[in-house]
Amino acid sequence: MAQPYIYDFDTPIDRRGTNCSKWDGLKDEFGRDDLSAYWVADMDFKSAPEIIASLREIVEFGVFGYPIMSEPGRRAVAEWERKRHGWDVKPEDVGYMSGVVAGLAAAVCEFTAPGDGIVVQPPIYPPFFRVVTDNDRVLIENPLNETPDGYEMDFEHLKSALTPKVKAILLCSPHNPVARVWRREELAALAEICEEHEIMIISDEIHQDLVYSDARHIPMSVAAPSIDRLLVTLVAPSKTFNIAGLTASAWIARDEKIAARMKRALGRKHLSSLNMMALSALEAAYTKGAPWLEAAMSYLEKNRDLVLEFLREEMPRVKLKHPEGTYIFWLDFRDYGLKNSELTRILINEARVALNNGINFGSCGDGFARLNIGCPKAQLVDGLFRIKRAFERVM
Ligand SMILES: Cc1ncc(COP(=O)(O)O)c(C=O)c1O
Repeated sequence: MAQPYIYDFDTPIDRRGTNCSKWDGLKDEFGRDDLSAYWVADMDFKSAPEIIASLREIVEFGVFGYPIMSEPGRRAVAEWERKRHGWDVKPEDVGYMSGVVAGLAAAVCEFTAPGDGIVVQPPIYPPFFRVVTDNDRVLIENPLNETPDGYEMDFEHLKSALTPKVKAILLCSPHNPVARVWRREELAALAEICEEHEIMIISDEIHQDLVYSDARHIPMSVAAPSIDRLLVTLVAPSKTFNIAGLTASAWIARDEKIAARMKRALGRKHLSSLNMMALSALEAAYTKGAPWLEAAMSYLEKNRDLVLEFLREEMPRVKLKHPEGTYIFWLDFRDYGLKNSELTRILINEARVALNNGINFGSCGDGFARLNIGCPKAQLVDGLFRIKRAFERVM
């Protein structure tokens, strides 16, 4: 009988010199490379052994010609959604695309026209702004509401911002960077507003599998099935299985007309095929990767709890709303009353850590920094103490 894999999330992996953005891009982004990296949203873990084995097989074969966009990968996506998220998806509702941001841009171009308004809900993953403005659409900001219990969508503000020129909303579910996993009622309330105003929902659910034991991801289509006629959902194994560099992703649309339009939009931009490594990794991930994911989530949940406890005990002035999902956390340093430039200077030059600057997620991100906890525990603890000691020195 095959031995079960023992997954190792503790041994540090030196990624420097592998052309990786998170570690080899430090100097360009932060001006120095002697930092510990907690920024780019990938994890410092090896991917699932089943995925590595599938890639190894291709490498061993050694012929890297053109692949066909075969059905098993689309079937694997559909099965994954059905089993994991209780969403009745068929292989014909699924299409490939090379990157979720590419899919967002294609959907923006297909379902809206230049000059149309598109809603985004800051603080938000920065490309959400750019796929709107780069394509000559108009940004309509509906900032999240900060409440003592966490962030919420502001439905009243949204309704007041909607004009006939507003044609779409970019939903981030779960939400990067505030780590909210939207509840069924919240999604249903959003869908109701969008249906009433004929607003297309472009739902980025790339973080759907990275949800802690006290929350549950509900696909938008499950929360409000009648929204299918105005919905395209974007998913990927990239965050889930730490294979973002392969740019394997997929769109899902249960409405035939939406599916045909998404296919055409991606086809026009030549973004609808995956390379052979991506295709193979996607299929292996969704058919064989679940045990690795269970182990990774249980490790990440311990890291999450560690960060919460650390902040409570060691740095109570830094606030963090309870993260329900994702491995990127939205740290609130506002209690220190620092200018953004000074907060950035302390983190980089004093603590020697690289976190994402909150301001890049919208103006409401002033005073915040985004911390990536997808790394060995010891590395995470080191970063947290670096930050603590730096603040003790300078404040
Ligand atoms: C919400 C969200 N969408 C998309 C992406 C990136 O997707 P891709 O690399 O497939 O373009 C990220 C990466 O952090 C993300 O957080």
